[in-house]
Amino acid sequence: MTTALPDSIRHRFPLLEQSVYLNSCSQGALSVDVRQAYEQYLKDWDEKGAPWDLWVERAESARGRVARLLNADPDEVAITTSVSAGVSALLSGLRPAGSRSKIVMSDFEFPTIGQIMHAQELLGVKVEHVPAGPDVTVSLERMAEAIDEETALVAITHVCFRNGSKTDVKEVIRLAHEAGVPVLLDSFQAVGAVPIDVRDLDVDFLAGGILKYLLGSAGLAFLYCRSDHLPNITPTQTGWFADENIFDMDISDYSPSPTARKFESGTPPIPNIYAGIAGMDLMHEVGIDRTEAHVAGLTVQLLEGLDRIGATVVTPRDPEKRGPMIAVATTDEWAMVNALAEDGVLTNPRDGNLRLSWHCYNSAEDVERTVSALERHGDLLAR
Ligand SMILES: Cc1ncc(COP(=O)(O)O)c(C=O)c1O
Repeated sequence: MTTALPDSIRHRFPLLEQSVYLNSCSQGALSVDVRQAYEQYLKDWDEKGAPWDLWVERAESARGRVARLLNADPDEVAITTSVSAGVSALLSGLRPAGSRSKIVMSDFEFPTIGQIMHAQELLGVKVEHVPAGPDVTVSLERMAEAIDEETALVAITHVCFRNGSKTDVKEVIRLAHEAGVPVLLDSFQAVGAVPIDVRDLDVDFLAGGILKYLLGSAGLAFLYCRSDHLPNITPTQTGWFADENIFDMDISDYSPSPTARKFESGTPPIPNIYAGIAGMDLMHEVGIDRTEAHVAGLTVQLLEGLDRIGATVVTPRDPEKRGPMIAVATTDEWAMVNALAEDGVLTNPRDGNLRLSWHCYNSAEDVERTVSALERHGDLLAR
């Protein structure tokens, strides 16, 4: 691809003809590629009936693509329908107990992570929250204090869904590993926007989904499990697609796959897999490194504009401590979202803040239009 971003890619997203799309932290914009993938799914269904060999092959292709994206081995990747499903299956197999029965999690986790961790309390697990530091990042000092010889697992988020803060993942992993504790990283708000290399991070478990910066649709996610952990984890949350031999149709025992497929469940989400493959291929073509660099430029331009109009930015300023989303304080989050939507700027809120998330297809003109719209609705900005 020779044309620079975003011009090389904008024409593949019809929505961008009318709107400034800043909602990728919730759902990536629909591309012509993903629409065509859904049409192909219907065509295959219509013309071939029930082509399960093809559909199982598609699921394996999705696994291969996720593995390539993370620099993992396909046997280390489970294809799931949500982050929640993969993380629940993982916890059902980790079964923290005995002298190591504490889970340490950051206060920046998505509700599903907090809820799954607290569900383990029913099994005797203790959960300790690590509050954020004053610079709105996961505090390494507080993390180090919380991780001890009783800790079974540390759960951190890569980029916080509420405020866009990016965690110093490598440092938390180093701290946890020093104490012999594995780390679960929730990368849903990072994957597709931030290059991820599980070998370089040396992370134990990593979860993410395809519908945001990987441009697929809802109902497709993944769980990475480092290969050396696989023999030691036997999930009790399972299903026939997690079995060692799916088509044995054996009801006499439980023999999970030795690979990360052991974290899967029932029939794979075939339509979402078609869409997810198209989304991942598109991001592979665009390049996640290029996207990160492009978005870094846009967010600098945005922050300058926000300062000019006197907006309160909730996201850390340090480029190393933020991802593709910038959060801005409002007096009424939904009034602001609706006012911007009238101006053709599509956003969404969390915790009183407006979330502005940037991707490969956003342009410098998008930044200008957004700052002008925010200035017009300045009465809704919390100063
Ligand atoms: C950081 C993060 N983790 C987890 C989730 C939830 O994932 P799922 O609905 O696939 O379980 C989200 C959804 O927005 C998220 O942003």
